[in-house]
Amino acid sequence: MKSPYIRELQASQTVLGTFLVSYKDIRQKKGGEPVLHLTLADRTGDLDARMFDNAAEVLDTFERDDFVRVKGLLQVFHNRPQLTIHKILPVPESEVDTSDFFPVSKRDRDEMFRELQSWIAGMTNPHLKALLEAIFADESIAAPFRSAPAAKTVHHNWIGGLIEHVLSMCHLARFTAAHYPDIDFDLLLAGVILHDLGKIRELSFTRSIAYTTEGQLIGHIVIGIGMIEDKLRRIPDFPARLRELLVHMILSHHGELEFGSPKIPVFPEALLLHYIDNLDSKMECMRSLLEKDRTVEGEWTAYNSALERSALKKSRFLEPEEPAVKSEVPASPKPHPEPTSAFAAKLSHALQREPG
Ligand SMILES: [Fe+2]
Ligand SMILES: [Fe+2]
Repeated sequence: MKSPYIRELQASQTVLGTFLVSYKDIRQKKGGEPVLHLTLADRTGDLDARMFDNAAEVLDTFERDDFVRVKGLLQVFHNRPQLTIHKILPVPESEVDTSDFFPVSKRDRDEMFRELQSWIAGMTNPHLKALLEAIFADESIAAPFRSAPAAKTVHHNWIGGLIEHVLSMCHLARFTAAHYPDIDFDLLLAGVILHDLGKIRELSFTRSIAYTTEGQLIGHIVIGIGMIEDKLRRIPDFPARLRELLVHMILSHHGELEFGSPKIPVFPEALLLHYIDNLDSKMECMRSLLEKDRTVEGEWTAYNSALERSALKKSRFLEPEEPAVKSEVPASPKPHPEPTSAFAAKLSHALQREPG
């Protein structure tokens, strides 16, 4: 087990540890010498880091997604920890346990897959059940579905995050369908299980999570519908109108045109699917924001662009430390990095607003 983990680091501490480089940028001081801007990560979180001195000597010794051993001083800058690096050396992958660096689901992935199969086994609509069984009998789908994250950054962004998100939504579907008796539970459940199927090809997740080229060009909604249509072609008696309902649910699950759905939900199961997805992704996003926040003082987290707010740290608010820290909601939240083109700006906006 590696030591220290990012979550354990304290301000004003000399740090000697091994981390994953999840972001690397080279900027310049006024005199022209380079400054390294890094984000260092492990499975417990990430950390801003800068190397102000002698950066030229190490610039080309590692890249993003490499492992590095660093020595530096952890300081507080703008109410957040920042590591000033004094020494940095690349570390071969053979010398680290990669599971220390990439966040994974706390739940066992095979156990989650068995739970998914039990939800499918409980379905009574023979057509939807046959479709779902055909999809998850295909190992080229089932294997990545066990491991895929649900998103790059916004929510459930860890290995196994997609299936965890889907199972959480299965429970929400059961609660809400019990409350609204006209809901066709099997149709809702099929939509829940399949809504983000295309994420297994939209995202790459062998190392850090990134968008694939197919993901950038086509996106998970259209990719997922293609995968479903492929299986439907091999189920000849699948009712044509049921197919249209299911396809509409996948198409409309982001709820609004500006969030990437080409259609808005137009029947109850589609509308409920959208709200269940939105609820589960937003609640996880806020849980993770509070868990990972690194602000040193005050009762507010850093600004979160996906939720478009800072979150209140309720325990600090109810029991302020002595002397009481008077804090304010950040007046001008730090914007996310500036997109480099009009297309990048639109894409960035769509990804950040994507509900799930
Ligand atoms: Fe989605
Ligand atoms: Fe989702």
